[in-house]
Amino acid sequence: ADSGLDIGPNTTIAALREDAAHCTRCDLYKDATQTVFGVGPSDARVMLVGEQPGDKEDLAGLPFVGPAGQLLDRALAEAGIDRDTVYVTNAVKHFKFEPRGKRRIHKKPDRPEIEACKWWLERELAVVHPEVVIAMGATAAQAVYGRAVKVMSERGRPSDDPRGFRVMLTVHPSFLLRTPDLEQRERAYRDFVADLRHAR
Ligand code: URA
Repeated sequence: ADSGLDIGPNTTIAALREDAAHCTRCDLYKDATQTVFGVGPSDARVMLVGEQPGDKEDLAGLPFVGPAGQLLDRALAEAGIDRDTVYVTNAVKHFKFEPRGKRRIHKKPDRPEIEACKWWLERELAVVHPEVVIAMGATAAQAVYGRAVKVMSERGRPSDDPRGFRVMLTVHPSFLLRTPDLEQRERAYRDFVADLRHAR
């Protein structure tokens, strides 16, 4: 299938990453440390899309290396997916935050920021050309589906995307970290692993 996006035959993830390092398509680059581009093999069959880099990711320059990333690693392993074979990226590639004392508190990216950053996600999709895209959470879903999606009612049901891949929606791993009740959290985690296994 064809993404319909004319990005030139020789575009690589490395070249996109280099361009994205200087991105000024929205204002988030002003306060973030650096652009956090996607990571993984260009021939990956599975692409995972998160929301935006967090504090740790902003400093490391790599997606999903903080607490949510550690949970994601565990869930992928349990689902039988080797993270090294997956292309991992975010809908928005700069950390959006609010300073609170010495800490930087995560802020949700807004629609214009998600739309501006789709420029990069579309190119990652066109280069990697995955078979399956897993959108984790509402922000990723907005970017991938191009519309607002109710995560809890639409999760877990794969659909065909005209760009030539299957898409599946699931929760964001941070949602699991934020669920205070232990039993609820464990159930949410098991459902998350089941979604990943289903996608595999
Ligand atoms: N949350 C995300 O959505 N992405 C990351 O890279 C880290 C945390």
